[in-house]
Amino acid sequence: MSGMRPTGKLHLGNYIGALANWVKLQDSGQYDCYFFIADVHALTTDYADTSKLAENVLEVAFDFLAAGLDPKRSTIFVQSHVNQHFELPMYLGMISPLGWLERVPSYKEMQENLTNKDLTTYGFLGYPVLMASDILLYQAQYVPVGQDQQAHVELTRELARRFNNFYKLNRRDVLPEPDVLLTPSPKLPGTDGRKMSKSYGNTILLSDPEPEVRHKLKTMVTDPARVRRKDPGDPDKCPVGDLHKVFSSPETMAKVYEGCRSADIGCIECKGWAADALVQVLNPIRERRAQLKDDEVEAILKDGSRRATVRAEQTMKEVRAAMQMP
Ligand code: TRP
Ligand code: SF4
Repeated sequence: MSGMRPTGKLHLGNYIGALANWVKLQDSGQYDCYFFIADVHALTTDYADTSKLAENVLEVAFDFLAAGLDPKRSTIFVQSHVNQHFELPMYLGMISPLGWLERVPSYKEMQENLTNKDLTTYGFLGYPVLMASDILLYQAQYVPVGQDQQAHVELTRELARRFNNFYKLNRRDVLPEPDVLLTPSPKLPGTDGRKMSKSYGNTILLSDPEPEVRHKLKTMVTDPARVRRKDPGDPDKCPVGDLHKVFSSPETMAKVYEGCRSADIGCIECKGWAADALVQVLNPIRERRAQLKDDEVEAILKDGSRRATVRAEQTMKEVRAAMQMP
């Protein structure tokens, strides 16, 4: 079980940091996977303007499917379409000590960073309770996430333990403690050399047409030591070098190291090779995206949400019974 906030069209960073790994887990055939779009989570910070939310949910769904998530093999759904995502947080909230919530690292960090938003809300403090509920509703064993989400899964385990201590069903625990499946996250720089992020405006989108990808690569920053063509550079100090490490073959990598350090190749040529490697990954994704129609994607989400509801209700029956709620 894993989820993503609906940030609009996804970029390469989202793909490498999450989506590609989800597809791999799905394709391994070893897991019964649930992947969802966390639109209620979006409200915890973006409650003041909801005008783009529905559109962003649909864009993310397009990218999920284009990247290879398959509704025949995985349950793909929208959080707010499954009512149990509103019920469990209420019950878990009753047993969530304020101190636990205030101690989650992202709580203070985001309050300090997003100074243009008032995050002193009940909803924002409750973010980890919402996330714990997402996971526990499916009695998930594994949660594939990046390191930034690890503390949230840890809190999920603590809340499950606390719940199981208070309430039992036929002397048995209802909520299993999930484990993190840490996503290996290689450094993925954006076009300005900083971490690729929508808020920096330095992204390469999964849906960018090939000429756009090539243009973005051309304007990408390089090793600052290579001022002139004859100056040698170092791919380990260059954002384009970092892209090569993620996407290029060992043969290309060898040419990049050799050619850059000896100033045998120019940055334009090197960036062309990086663009070739990127385009090889992105073209099939963009082509699959172009085949999809709005109503088809909406029907997939509707069916996924129906299946998720069945599974979540199974857990809620146990939760209510354990809590002796009518
Ligand atoms: N908080 C996660 C993020 O910002 C998204 C998320 C919400 C999630 N609920 C989840 C991830 C449940 C895994 C499991 O990326
Ligand atoms: Fe970066 Fe390639 Fe230029 Fe070297 S040759 S500085 S790796 S873009």
